[in-house]
Amino acid sequence: MADIKVNICGVELKNPVVTASGTFGSGREFSELTDLNGLGAVTVKGVSAVPWQGNPAPRIAEVYGGMLNSVGLQNPGVKYFIENDIPFLRQYDTKIIVNLCGHSVEEYVEAARLIRGADVDLLELNISCPNVSEGGMSFGTDPVIAEKTVREVKKVADKPLIVKLTPNVTDITEIAKAVESGGADALSLINTVTGMKIDIKKRQPVLQRKIGGMSGPAVKPIAVRMVYQVCNAVKLPVIGMGGISNAEDALEFIMVGATAVAIGTANFIDPDTGIKVAGGINKYLDENGFDSISEIRGIIK
Ligand code: FUM
Repeated sequence: MADIKVNICGVELKNPVVTASGTFGSGREFSELTDLNGLGAVTVKGVSAVPWQGNPAPRIAEVYGGMLNSVGLQNPGVKYFIENDIPFLRQYDTKIIVNLCGHSVEEYVEAARLIRGADVDLLELNISCPNVSEGGMSFGTDPVIAEKTVREVKKVADKPLIVKLTPNVTDITEIAKAVESGGADALSLINTVTGMKIDIKKRQPVLQRKIGGMSGPAVKPIAVRMVYQVCNAVKLPVIGMGGISNAEDALEFIMVGATAVAIGTANFIDPDTGIKVAGGINKYLDENGFDSISEIRGIIK
């Protein structure tokens, strides 16, 4: 069997498949539907320094080729996460990636400070959520603010910091370079693409907040293009995501340079997608005579 272990900033994942934040809760719900031991890592829903209520419903809508969400980073806060979710996840042989969110630089720093010393493997800075009016995507679309936020969080972070990028920019490489300068250890991309759906009977937007973030198979070509551009612009390892539903999709991301891949929306259709993708990558490597996933990483120049 080919070697599909990957290394993200010194953390070894048994396979390159992780979950995308916000699509897998804290892993608890999905543990009843799939085997978390089969995943390289679980990335949990964003956590903030204090609990957040999220946005009013409706905040989910199905669309052709995917879905829209405007959840608004609802979460129980870092303290609850440390006391309840980490011990639960540590029962499984998988790594833990904690997505951190805030409304201001100070709140991001506070979340990173509160998670210090907790038994997690990697942090993921969420400067790309389109569904909050302060922080989130508004920080990830401005290279100066993005760099500053990363720099401040890095001062207190005690684990490697992955920075999650938004596709809702003209040139994603500009933001990638800015956060690399700020001290990011790795990148993940893409978060959702902003979108809207109208209920023509009610003559109003389906989402209460009107605009949400689109994910699912329809965004995959955009994501592959952006991962390709970012992998050629910075030296950091990249976790690629956006519409991955099967091993063939995942292999596209790896061939343009991604070190690992994240499964998001597909989990809602088949919770075993991550395990199937890992198995399919192995099968592809074996069938095509490769000994290791590193032999195909970035093979597209
Ligand atoms: O609204 C949300 O909770 C989505 C978060 C994200 O896209 O990062």
